[in-house]
Amino acid sequence: VAIARRAGPAGSLQIVGLGPGASTQRTPQASTAVRQAEVVVGLDAYIEQSSDLLGPSQEVRRFPIGAEVERARVALDLAADGRRVALVCSGDAGVYAMASPTFELLEEDRGRRYGDVEVSVVPGVTASLAAAALLGAPLGHDFLTVSLSDLLTPWDLIEARLQAAAETDLVVVIYNPRSRARTWQLEGADTPVGIVGDAARDGQRVVVTTLGQLDCTAVNMTTCVVIGSSTTRVEGGRMVTPRGYAT
Ligand SMILES: C[S@@+](CC[C@H](N)C(=O)[O-])C[C@H]1O[C@@H](n2cnc3c(N)ncnc32)[C@H](O)[C@@H]1O
Repeated sequence: VAIARRAGPAGSLQIVGLGPGASTQRTPQASTAVRQAEVVVGLDAYIEQSSDLLGPSQEVRRFPIGAEVERARVALDLAADGRRVALVCSGDAGVYAMASPTFELLEEDRGRRYGDVEVSVVPGVTASLAAAALLGAPLGHDFLTVSLSDLLTPWDLIEARLQAAAETDLVVVIYNPRSRARTWQLEGADTPVGIVGDAARDGQRVVVTTLGQLDCTAVNMTTCVVIGSSTTRVEGGRMVTPRGYAT
């Protein structure tokens, strides 16, 4: 029995950053990519986040949390079969998200199956920027980000990076913090800290505190933690890291 494969050129895959939550913080390019896709692939939560863009003719492939490589493979397979695919992520598509596993699969494939698929990345507003906007201007000077997720990175390495980060005196934004934000109590007690939960989503929370008074129960997987540098100040409830104009 011959199985007919779809004829014609390979399709396309756009890896789309939807922004932190609200549609007002989604870029027009991201909205267009989702609207024009034949198939939309993503975690349940991110399919919900795109629901205002989806029409009845579109196929939707929902995934539970985890399974990043499987999600990327399904998206690439659909595109290799000639479909126009959008793989949706929260925030930015390249920041702790689906762009890198997709490119890793492409590298592994060496052009055998996915060589003709047109792959592109559509950027989005990442959580650190959404959180910073709610806190004031904590990222006004140099900063770095660290993810505390130890699913793929050994905790020893994460701890070493945190230690090194603490020594740089840069502002540090922590993604995937869970209750491990506690690690930062090794820093100065007066250092300002902003905790932003569910930025631009229902249930948004913003807390400005200090490392000494950090309540780790306010920190979970839907929060971003912004830890100031030695120059970060709190003015009228806003965190500000000066660029130096006033001096
Ligand atoms: C797997 S990472 C995905 C990051 C995403 N690609 C981005 O650019 O924002 C998930 C982590 O991002 C942070 N995060 C994502 N969306 C957020 C939001 N709306 N408010 C606060 N933190 C958020 C949390 O730290 C969460 O644990």
